[in-house]
Amino acid sequence: MLTNQKELFRLPENVTYLNGAYMSPFLKSVEEIGHASVSKKCFPYEITGDDFFENTNRLKLEFSKLVAIDNAQNVAIIPSASYGIATVANNITLNTEDEILVVGEQFPSNIYSWQKIADQHNARIRIISAPIAFNRRGQGWNESILDAISDKTALVAISHVHWADGTLFDLKNIRKKTKMYNALLIIDGTQSIGALPFSVKEIQPDALICAGYKWLLGPYSIGLAYYSNTFANGLPIEENWINRKNSEDFGGLVNYEPEYQPKAGRYNVGEMSNFTLTPMLIKAIEQLNTWQPQRIQDYCKTISEKAIEKLRAIGCFIEEDKYRAQHLFGIYLPETINLDKLKAEFSKQNIYVSFRGNAIRVSPHVYNTKEDFEKLVKCFESV
Ligand SMILES: Cc1ncc(COP(=O)(O)O)c(C=O)c1O
Repeated sequence: MLTNQKELFRLPENVTYLNGAYMSPFLKSVEEIGHASVSKKCFPYEITGDDFFENTNRLKLEFSKLVAIDNAQNVAIIPSASYGIATVANNITLNTEDEILVVGEQFPSNIYSWQKIADQHNARIRIISAPIAFNRRGQGWNESILDAISDKTALVAISHVHWADGTLFDLKNIRKKTKMYNALLIIDGTQSIGALPFSVKEIQPDALICAGYKWLLGPYSIGLAYYSNTFANGLPIEENWINRKNSEDFGGLVNYEPEYQPKAGRYNVGEMSNFTLTPMLIKAIEQLNTWQPQRIQDYCKTISEKAIEKLRAIGCFIEEDKYRAQHLFGIYLPETINLDKLKAEFSKQNIYVSFRGNAIRVSPHVYNTKEDFEKLVKCFESV
């Protein structure tokens, strides 16, 4: 069982930060290596040819360990989730009437690229919305998703947990059904990878895309993507020198090379070697691999379960445990609670959460405590 890890962060004592789904705080160790990495370029003669590749390879290996990827050559470094999704969209062909299946109120970075290719090919986006009633909401939502996968489905673009309220999607069965119909499964892991266990080996997605600044505890503008061998021969969305075969040989760069680096090596963003951000993300994922996502889930459950019980008792709806994550969940208010008053109370008490859709999104981590949740409940009770 993990113990509280707040001393590894710089969050002030008077702040209750329950908003990792918005943006995680840096670990002190990540901040430290970030400062050192910024300074490195004051002495550019110390940055060698190997520096362009060594850390990026380490980063890909560390990520592979986190999500059980067999071959780190299937990993690419991306600047954002939208970039990683655009790479997939750029490498699939659709037929007229094909369906791209997404869920209701999905994050826009995992929508716009699909709209674009759907328009180009006269295909369509099929949105599976959450049930209106709270009763059996998560279960019912998952059933509708599974029911919607058919021989018309070209791909399912989904996340492991819904970004606004933490509803868990049953990826195992979604994968089974997509395989039955030869449909691709593209997963946006931005709101789950790092905090919730996930295994590429087990789920076998066609792609897994993660921005790095939330549950990977990394800096903004760097993320990671896994592309299965389905995409091993595709085309990148930009043509940069480092993604070409033998780019390690700096002397031969103008012997223009028609071939790409193997597998996902072709999909790295230009200047993937980012000397500041890469060491920071490595450090962060090393820490996550030490903590282990399952233990992060268990920790979040332990500190929040009493509070959740109390919130349910005063009429709030929070999804059943089986259909929600522990690190990210939504609180839907009963009519008796005034949202504006509650917001004002949070602000007075320095409690940070998000307001997404009509849910209050609470997203704890190992720097939070039971006391943080007691403070949160008190605000509900006072309005
Ligand atoms: C589910 C999900 N995907 C992706 C992102 C970020 O997307 P991008 O990296 O394209 O800005 C977010 C940010 O909130 C998110 O919640």
